Amino acid sequence: MVTASNGFAERNVLSDLGLFFGLWLRRPIDIAAAVPSGRLVADAMARQMDLARPGHVLELGAGTGSITAGLLRHGCPAERLVVIEREPALAEVLRRRFPGITVVEGDATDLASLLAARSITQLSQIASSLPIKWFPLAAQRDIVEQSFALLGAEGRLVQLTNALESPLPCRSLGIAGREVERIWLNFLPTQIWSYRRFAGADDRREAQAAPRNRAVPLRQA
Ligand SMILES: C[S@@+](CC[C@H](N)C(=O)[O-])C[C@H]1O[C@@H](n2cnc3c(N)ncnc32)[C@H](O)[C@@H]1O
Repeated sequence: MVTASNGFAERNVLSDLGLFFGLWLRRPIDIAAAVPSGRLVADAMARQMDLARPGHVLELGAGTGSITAGLLRHGCPAERLVVIEREPALAEVLRRRFPGITVVEGDATDLASLLAARSITQLSQIASSLPIKWFPLAAQRDIVEQSFALLGAEGRLVQLTNALESPLPCRSLGIAGREVERIWLNFLPTQIWSYRRFAGADDRREAQAAPRNRAVPLRQA
């Protein structure tokens, strides 16, 4: 892992930051943040991962690896961690920073086939920092359906956002979700949402009571 503990590592950290910022300047909608998430956000995302569930841990939209580093720091074994990043230059940074994990360069809307090509057919958890609230509904549905097919009935899709409401339209996508953490001390205050499949009658009552795009409470996070 790259830290700022020596001259070489510091140069890498600064050049990774410059790369991320430069990409954001050119394509702000695709990259969605001018700077990578801070350590408090990464720690909060990692706290939501239940590593006792079997399978790989998938990270979507890994950027320069802020959340990746948090997942590893909190005990996710490198060999269980798979990250998908669409931007080739960022995928290259991830390969350099985290030689023990699986870095997949590709689009998160193709996640099932990207993982199947690597013989990964079961996921333990998903941590996403994709700018998913800006995706068209069809792309959101692709990601949600493929995610829960691999996560299974009790799986969780954990998503960070800077909006004060659900970044996913729960009712349209057939999911239930709630905000599980809010981090004020980040460049932009960040909320973390945890989603699960919309399954039972209780969920239906909650969804009907909740305004569109607002929290649908989870009974178990
Ligand atoms: C807001 S940045 C988050 C980066 C990093 N995880 C962090 O928290 O600092 C979003 C990342 O998602 C990537 N991304 C956007 N759309 C994507 C897609 N459809 N598939 C895969 N990655 C995508 C961007 O290239 C960018 O690196």
